[in-house]
Amino acid sequence: MKLCMIGTGYVGLVSGVCFADLGNDVICVDKNNEKIEKLKKGIIPIYEPGLEELVKKNFKNKKLFFSSNLQESINKSDIIFICVGTPTKKNSGEADLSQVYDVAKEIKKSSSRFKIIITKSTVPVTTGDKIEKILSKKKSKKLFSVVSNPEFLREGEAIRDFSYPDRIVIGTNDLRSNRILKNLYMPLISKGAKYINTSRRAAELIKYASNAFLATKITFINEIANLCEKTNINVEDISIGMGLDKRIGSRFLRAGPAYGGSCFPKDTKAITKTADDFKINLTLIKSVIKSNENRSLLLLKRVFRILNGKVKNKKICFLGVTFKANTDDMRDSSSLIMIPSLIKRGAIINYYDPTGKKQELNKYKNVSFSKDIKSAISKADLIIIHTEWNDFKSINFKSIMKKKRFIIYDMRNIYSRMKMKKDNIKYYGVGG
Ligand code: UGA
Repeated sequence: MKLCMIGTGYVGLVSGVCFADLGNDVICVDKNNEKIEKLKKGIIPIYEPGLEELVKKNFKNKKLFFSSNLQESINKSDIIFICVGTPTKKNSGEADLSQVYDVAKEIKKSSSRFKIIITKSTVPVTTGDKIEKILSKKKSKKLFSVVSNPEFLREGEAIRDFSYPDRIVIGTNDLRSNRILKNLYMPLISKGAKYINTSRRAAELIKYASNAFLATKITFINEIANLCEKTNINVEDISIGMGLDKRIGSRFLRAGPAYGGSCFPKDTKAITKTADDFKINLTLIKSVIKSNENRSLLLLKRVFRILNGKVKNKKICFLGVTFKANTDDMRDSSSLIMIPSLIKRGAIINYYDPTGKKQELNKYKNVSFSKDIKSAISKADLIIIHTEWNDFKSINFKSIMKKKRFIIYDMRNIYSRMKMKKDNIKYYGVGG
């Protein structure tokens, strides 16, 4: 099938290359010409394991194309995926849909052959109705069908998540589109993915409700972790004990720093704003947002307690600064709250991240980057394990550390408390 992915951000690029790998002809379009030229040379704008190889392979095999000519790409394609950004509007928490509607206006101008227009970007419920309205001003309803097909890809695991999805959600009442899309996804369905067809509005809401639920699950265990710390219980035991109940499930039940990234913070705000517009108060999700915003401050307070309130001139090393492992993404990472606050109190920060130096941290005095784990931690008074990269999972602290007295605050509970105790290392985890 001939597909066009509009927007070569995370969603558009990963989905585009994966569809090409399944044998479709895919054009990835972006108005940023520089990005397109780089992609043609195999230079990938994001860090995502396996993506570069797949781009190069499918570009070479002429299944994947890159273009900045939107009209031409739309005209050549049968299925158009809208994959542009829907960032949070400043002050309101609402999703900014201007890029989505700009694309709809461009599609309106396209040639008069039947096309399926799909929103893959995360868009509030009723956005599909509005896109349909924009298109039907110019086109006969027989010439297009607007469908919602949300993505459930995690950064760092996106190619695997695309190839082995738990479910594929197609929101449309149009039988023809449903048939075509089921066929498009058949290689994944035949490997076991569940395919569900819902109304367009339901598909839009499934995406937000899923992200809000996962954010709630994380926040739930983070709050339980706070109680564990006061009662000398290891929260990992609680996660295991709860997770074995099939009704609860063990995934996304790991306590840690505040959840971050480009999705949970944005989508939890957007769903409460949409609900407000419909005069529905999503109090649970609102309190999740609040609890998560407060979490970095709670963890900082623990850092102060660990250092007995003496933060000035303390050498603190962050292992990992992105919002989670296996990504270079700094968006809404809790390190961006913790690091500035610690410097303000006079700490000297050094960090190491497997994805390199971060421009977001360049502006701070007393923040430096080390090129490897050893040089990052060797002189630290306190090591904060902020993300759960495999690289951090078997560090021989005793042999690396120059200081006799150092402390580890493991915000991802990577290490065994017992083992640390046995090795005589002062160690703190989250929730216990
Ligand atoms: C999330 C969803 O998991 C995807 O299904 C969805 O498609 C994506 O948002 C999106 O809407 O595009 P992502 O933001 O890449 O994916 O990252 P997650 O792996 O979900 O992690 C989000 C945050 O939760 C991170 O800060 C992570 O460290 C934290 N987390 C996750 C925990 O603290 N504990 C957990 O048990 C799991």
